[in-house]
Amino acid sequence: MKDMSIISGAVHHDRIHDSAAKHVSGSADYTDDIAMPEGTLHAYLGVSQVAHARLLGLDLAAVRRAPGVVGVLTAADIPGINDISPTGLNDEPVFPTDKIQFHGQPLFAVVAETRDAARRAAALARVDCEALPCALDPVAARAAGYPYVTAPLKLARGDVAPALAAAPHRITARMRIGGQDHMYLEGHIAFAIPGEDDDVVVHCSTQHPSEAQHMVAHVLGVPSNAVTVNVRRMGGGFGGKESQMNLFCAVAAIAAKKWNRAVKIRPDRDQDMTATGKRHDFVVDYDIGFDEAGRIHAVDASFAARCGFSADLSGPVTDRALFHADNAYFYPNVRLESHPMKTNTVSNTAFRGFGGPQGVIVAERMIEEIAFATGQDPLDVRKANFYGQDGRDVTPYHQQVEDNILDRLVGELETGADYRARRKAIIADNANSPVLKRGIALTPVKFGISFTATWYNQAGALVHVYNDGSVHLNHGGTEMGQGLNTKVAQVVADAFQIDFERIKITRTTTEKVPNTSATAASSGSDLNGMAALNAVEQIKARLVAFAARKWEVEPDAVEFLPNEVRIGDVVLSFDAFIRQAYMARVQLSAAGFYKTPKIHWDRQKGCGRPFYYFAYGAACSEVTIDTLTGEYRVDRTDILHDVGRSLNPALDKGQVEGAFVQGMGWLTTEELWWDAEGRLRTHAPSTYKIPLASDRPRIFNVNLADWSENRELTIKRSKAVGEPPFMLGVSVFEALSMAVASVADYRVCPRLDAPATPERVLMAVSRLQAGT
Ligand code: MTE
Ligand code: MOS
Repeated sequence: MKDMSIISGAVHHDRIHDSAAKHVSGSADYTDDIAMPEGTLHAYLGVSQVAHARLLGLDLAAVRRAPGVVGVLTAADIPGINDISPTGLNDEPVFPTDKIQFHGQPLFAVVAETRDAARRAAALARVDCEALPCALDPVAARAAGYPYVTAPLKLARGDVAPALAAAPHRITARMRIGGQDHMYLEGHIAFAIPGEDDDVVVHCSTQHPSEAQHMVAHVLGVPSNAVTVNVRRMGGGFGGKESQMNLFCAVAAIAAKKWNRAVKIRPDRDQDMTATGKRHDFVVDYDIGFDEAGRIHAVDASFAARCGFSADLSGPVTDRALFHADNAYFYPNVRLESHPMKTNTVSNTAFRGFGGPQGVIVAERMIEEIAFATGQDPLDVRKANFYGQDGRDVTPYHQQVEDNILDRLVGELETGADYRARRKAIIADNANSPVLKRGIALTPVKFGISFTATWYNQAGALVHVYNDGSVHLNHGGTEMGQGLNTKVAQVVADAFQIDFERIKITRTTTEKVPNTSATAASSGSDLNGMAALNAVEQIKARLVAFAARKWEVEPDAVEFLPNEVRIGDVVLSFDAFIRQAYMARVQLSAAGFYKTPKIHWDRQKGCGRPFYYFAYGAACSEVTIDTLTGEYRVDRTDILHDVGRSLNPALDKGQVEGAFVQGMGWLTTEELWWDAEGRLRTHAPSTYKIPLASDRPRIFNVNLADWSENRELTIKRSKAVGEPPFMLGVSVFEALSMAVASVADYRVCPRLDAPATPERVLMAVSRLQAGT
């Protein structure tokens, strides 16, 4: 029976994703499901077959002659500005005019009656070019004197050189950290419908409709008010649709205006993987000074990233790597430097954690180095270096850590997962198991929440109450599977005290909420939840004033009860009350707004409070490796994660599980591999291995720290969840490292780069066995 004292979908309660049934039954609409108008054309990209060259000419005669082809688009067909760089650096042409900068770079588009015809014709182009030497990775790029794609960042505190020199122990090493393909189920797509005058409507799969709108306006040379961008939902984005949709939206819109017909563009998976950016891979050199007890005295590290041919989001991504190079640890003296290297590869972009994971894995590697060097349990070294009191609470960017809950959180996980006893048993068992070796690791995460570009921390929402009492909810965030719409609708349901089912969640559109930020940095519900609440509060204030006037009661005698409103002694159903308000001409619609307080950041000085608060978590993973083949499996993972007061524990747990598995994939089997010519050889699921259901931990215990509450005034005291748990995958990596180390009796910290593929695990084992 339904509990009448509580609305359905109340906040802090489990609520199924509003589209879950539609997702699994195939009735959820994606961009490709939108009915096409008569005469819709299809575009396909023609791409380069070299990594770096002077572009001398494009011979597209055969392409134009191919069956079904309506025409081609080249740089010369762009009416506005030939640039889709999200940073305004003007370094990313839609189509290049003079140089080719990566293998797979789009050079032109074919427009045809069918997608198949366009795709076949695209292969018929003859590209006249003169090859240039290329640098594919950050090390080669530095050696070749390549420039930075964007200004590097330096963070510093204390006095590093003397502290390193004076430290009782010192280790210097290099770690390579691989990138990652987003592998969203729904690939990129854009569908443009031309309108009258300058107008065009673009449906696409993006986390950042406002940017798509501005970019389309920019390439068409029209004001933003001529362009509308709509997104009902994405089949996953993971950061890959924060800026990478620009290309597809631009091509579809230019073609739609040129031929005055609707145009759709949908690359196949190989082209999606080769022509769009990925997670940045890094080469990190670190120098750490520490003492006998394992306490860190100083850290000096340089982070060189493969950014690709243009800046894209590499600036903020490499910045965030530095912001998380401390993870949970206090560095008394520290210097961190980013080297955002230009390379002749696809331009890398946002990916869950936005550079943060690359920082975190380095922090955890340094802890492991210290643990092996001092012969301690790595967990003890972690605890000895956690942020604490007495001045041990300042980050390398000079923000004070005020909300640290890791002592309690890690303590609870350590006990709950029985870490100490299991570690002891594993060490004992390994001694008697010649081939199969096990490892266990417990790693924490502290993740800063807010966009480091301060102006991005704003959001808007539009709420209408129709005169039948039903509610139409729109906000600037986008739905990519994470459940943002469900959470924001819960906030609205809670504020009006009406059942969740009364709220219609609508597509994101630039027509309803302007100037939105990307749904990114995990801040979707923090920002849009608050904006929607602000809209509801405005409507409620008008309703209360109306009721107090009409029924002649004090405003505080008006109360919103579950699906009812009490006004003094009168109780009306919500619908009846709304009807009366409408008849009395009360405005039942409001636009809400929110901006995050307290944050500021001075990049020049490397100083400020870039993050409103931190989200915390910890994971304990146990693995078994086969020392003859390098193969492994995850036997068990226990997670305790902090989402403050959860808006929806079921959805949050889903995010924690998914993020952990995606993080584990990044550090284990997902390997990007470019050949010497700069061609990405891992360009399809056949060659690029994401975790399967069968790769999940055999035992998987996921819990939320239900005692946690955000000390800041976030939406219902919750915390962001989208990205932080991604870094819990580090526990698998360090457990693998321990299993490897067992072959040399844990005397040496294995040199293990990420991803720790079975090949790398085997090579690390062999090196230790050979004593090299
Ligand atoms: N969850 C699903 N199912 N699909 C996604 O694409 N993207 C992640 C995360 N969780 C993603 C996801 C990334 S990169 C971010 S930044 C956040 O969701 C964005 O949404 P939020 O701010 O609403 O958490
Ligand atoms: Mo998430 S990488 O901030 O889209």
